[in-house]
Amino acid sequence: MSREIAIDALNAEEAAEELARLARLIDQANRAYHAEDAPEISDGEYDRLKRRNQAIEARFPDLKRADSPTGQVGAPAASGFQKVTHAVRMLSLGNAFEPGDVDEFVSRVRSYLGLADSDPVAFTSEPKIDGLSLSLRYENGRLVQAATRGDGSVGENVTENARTISDIPLVLHGAPDLLEVRGEVYMTHPDFAALNAAQAEKGERAFANPRNAAAGSLRQLDPAITRARPLAFFAYAWGALSEPLASTQSGAIDRLKSLGFSTNPLTGLAEDAEGLIKAYRAIEAERAALGYDIDGVVYKVDDLAYQRRLGFRSTTPRWAIAHKFPAELAWTRLEGIDIQVGRTGALSPVARLAPVTVGGVVVSNATLHNEDYIRGLDNTGQPIREGKDIRVGDRVQVYRAGDVIPKIADVDLTQRPDDAEPYIFPDTCPECGSAAVREEGDAVRRCTGGLICPAQAVEKLKHFVSRAAFDIDGLGARQIEMFYRDTDLPIREPADIFTLERRDAANLGKLRNRDGFGEKSVGNLFQAIEDKRRIALNRVLFALGIRHVGESAAMLLATHYGSWAALADALEAARDQSGEAWDDLISIDGVGNVLAASLVSAFAQPAERASINRLVNELEIMDVAAPDNTESPVAGKTIVFTGSLEKMTRAEAKATAEAMGAKVAGSVSARTDLVVAGPGAGAKARKAAELGIEIIDEDDWLSIAGAG
Ligand code: IVH
Repeated sequence: MSREIAIDALNAEEAAEELARLARLIDQANRAYHAEDAPEISDGEYDRLKRRNQAIEARFPDLKRADSPTGQVGAPAASGFQKVTHAVRMLSLGNAFEPGDVDEFVSRVRSYLGLADSDPVAFTSEPKIDGLSLSLRYENGRLVQAATRGDGSVGENVTENARTISDIPLVLHGAPDLLEVRGEVYMTHPDFAALNAAQAEKGERAFANPRNAAAGSLRQLDPAITRARPLAFFAYAWGALSEPLASTQSGAIDRLKSLGFSTNPLTGLAEDAEGLIKAYRAIEAERAALGYDIDGVVYKVDDLAYQRRLGFRSTTPRWAIAHKFPAELAWTRLEGIDIQVGRTGALSPVARLAPVTVGGVVVSNATLHNEDYIRGLDNTGQPIREGKDIRVGDRVQVYRAGDVIPKIADVDLTQRPDDAEPYIFPDTCPECGSAAVREEGDAVRRCTGGLICPAQAVEKLKHFVSRAAFDIDGLGARQIEMFYRDTDLPIREPADIFTLERRDAANLGKLRNRDGFGEKSVGNLFQAIEDKRRIALNRVLFALGIRHVGESAAMLLATHYGSWAALADALEAARDQSGEAWDDLISIDGVGNVLAASLVSAFAQPAERASINRLVNELEIMDVAAPDNTESPVAGKTIVFTGSLEKMTRAEAKATAEAMGAKVAGSVSARTDLVVAGPGAGAKARKAAELGIEIIDEDDWLSIAGAG
């Protein structure tokens, strides 16, 4: 990429050339994104290209091209696959990067299970395949459904395509009546090379890497195309089952193998962290010769009874971890630093790089974290990179680990141009001009413009429609950008999404006449919006994009308060950050003072509250019940564990209580129903006694929990 000329400095000829270049790049990106499962540039870079194009058109209106990308929607082609709700959620894995993380994983498992030093615990180790996961459902030995992971809860039905993969048996003999086999679809290196050669011959675009090729091939609407693409499958896990496969992970994998699945031959067993790291080194040494991409080694607790006890955090199992291979590195030139403004006003510096291939992917942007990072300081003010700062023009080292955003690791001072100047971080918001301030203890400088800042508003809206929030089909980041800037039918705040159809009707239904829309896609969009009017409390809360309120905090708050009305009343009552409602809020395990303060102040801020109310008026918010456990004696109760427990660990006690529908709080308040006090219980037990709350010991708890 040639260096981009500042828009103000373009002459007409350069502007015309630049518009042509941008039209080409954006079109290429659209195709890669929608049709070929091979995004070449990040969403951020895509947005930047579109913004640049728009700004040039604004300066040179006469030069606007007939095929201008402005106003094109580029809606992802409705995927055409049916949705499948997984009987058992498909989870992801926590990551380990260093041997120390593996030690920690093993100790965490041991301490959660409360094992003595002399108690053995075995782990499996196996390559982490870099493909896409697939769940295969067999009923009475016949393959009845194959589904992609999707968001973990709902995937896409790709049964007909899966049937074309030769590693996937269509019929099983001697299998449980119900068996969901999970594993990874991948493409080998030779098959990938041959596919790309064939693509080139046909004049079609090459895939960036085997994973994209596998994903693109599996998600073909025409199974005949999938059949022609050589895909492979390794089985490594399972979902719903009518009977256990075995009593250990390794036994279950052996069983899958005997049923006819391919399982990874490098799977091994180890007794401790040292053994696992040895297995990791051995697999790493084989990596280049395997003939398919792997990006780490997965460790799993072997004993399935232990796996059951360990259970899950919100999205990852406690009994497994992925030990990732080190990041891949490359050197390139830093061409510029742009500032992006996020939904909470954070000013994030982004490195614009001369494009370079890192681990098979072309990278042209990287995060620079924050102003201290550019200056060569970490969060505590200590030097990083021996204190070297980063300047535009520098030769910088870029790295990627797995799917994470590329980062800049180092600077080569010997190559620094003589005229390179230290970077001056802006103290006003580049989007709205408001002051950008850095509060004590915050690594990040933030725009103080709030809702008047267009960048914050757009980012908030993008978050609102994102997958874990409202997840509205056909209304993604790109459409939000377009509607935000629209003058006829703007979407400036979440409530506007739900009035879009009414406003369009009042506007003679003109939306369907726009480029990129049509009768059908407008109908689909309105229906997709309509479908999300009825929505669970936790999603709404997460979607609001309040700082510190992530997906799992939103779930904790939703299960604690149950309904929108109860939540809103409680936040109102807690607005001065003291009193019973405040104490109750911070007593929720996982809700700290910082989160609570951020939530309460968002609700107390008049403009924000008015915007939230407008949204809520458009919705039917569904209550969130504590886990369904009507028979459990502690369902809906708030329990505090204090003192030391001897028969189970604290974490295990908490998980068991939650699984029985109880809430576990960290401190005793008037809302506490039960205190489980072990030896050494102090202030909390005293407070409970004062408040007249029932106090029981560990044995009593075990008999309630059904294990005594
Ligand atoms: S086990 C509950 N084993 O990695 C855990 N996953 O980051 C289920 N993956 O979504 C996953 N190789 O797509 C497991 N040997 C392996 C794997 C593996 C690749 C993928 C899988 C999963 C992702 C998690």
